[in-house]
Amino acid sequence: MTFCSKHLLGIEYLSNLEITSLLDEADRYVTLNRSNAKHSEIFAGVTQINMFFENSTRTQASFEIAGKRLGADVMNMAMQASSIKKGETLIDTALTLNAMHPDLLVVRHPHSGAVNLLAEKVNCSVINAGDGTHEHPTQALLDALTIRRAKGRLHRLSIAICGDISHSRVARSNILLLGKMGNRIRLIGPSTLMPKGIEDFGVEVFENPKEGLKDVDVVMMLRLQKERMDGGFIPSEREYYHRFGLDHEKLSFAKKDAIIMHPGPMNRGVEIDGTLADDINRSVIQEQVEMGVAVRMAIIESLIKSQRTKISKVLK
Ligand code: NCD
Repeated sequence: MTFCSKHLLGIEYLSNLEITSLLDEADRYVTLNRSNAKHSEIFAGVTQINMFFENSTRTQASFEIAGKRLGADVMNMAMQASSIKKGETLIDTALTLNAMHPDLLVVRHPHSGAVNLLAEKVNCSVINAGDGTHEHPTQALLDALTIRRAKGRLHRLSIAICGDISHSRVARSNILLLGKMGNRIRLIGPSTLMPKGIEDFGVEVFENPKEGLKDVDVVMMLRLQKERMDGGFIPSEREYYHRFGLDHEKLSFAKKDAIIMHPGPMNRGVEIDGTLADDINRSVIQEQVEMGVAVRMAIIESLIKSQRTKISKVLK
């Protein structure tokens, strides 16, 4: 039993034990996913609806594959073509879908807090697939699994998170998770993209990448979230790459065996040098995608099992 709560809304609600046991379970799914017989029927009859109100490639595909590998019926709502466009509110859409008795709603929304609000209105379990600049818990969990497998542990590591921290739910969820597990977190980026008061989260802040990257074990790059910017946060992409983009020279300040991560989608030549992103000796970007499916399978399993345990207790 990995989960106590009905939903997965954020890392802030998870205990260290829940995180560790979810990652252990996900490790088992990595093995299954690498085998020929990667399909299971354990959750045949379960209905999973993916509601993505923001564009997504890997997260949506990953949730769809994860659900299908467990035997669930997965439906991707085409939100662009839904009644939201006709003026229906998020909550009305959720209540309509709720009446069809899904077991699981996977929701991505541009507004922070929208997924929590929706979870209060429906009977089924809700998974936050990213809400505004708030949280992206499944991304932090897949990042944690990638780090644990590459480094052999998930504590006492020095981890740099670099770039557009202000607009990044990935950074927020990772700061929470990696902090809980006892790692040293360094945030690197221009002051215009650094949230005020972030030091209160127990992180160190650097504006100079060469200082910030010194001797770190993990270098996590972030995308410039231009869709969330309403003003001039950076002088130009060229200047940004020159000062903050990960290139061979800046990487040389990290440990020799430091791994490179990026949640994707990445802008080559803006946040990261393309050859570094593709360097299989340093970059674990493709592993992150692979771990994403396994982690989401473990999460779906935990939530459905916890629903079933509660139902069987009521029936007793
Ligand atoms: C991230 C997201 O959507 O928050 N992407 C993802 O889920 N893989 C990061 C981003 O969009 O930059």
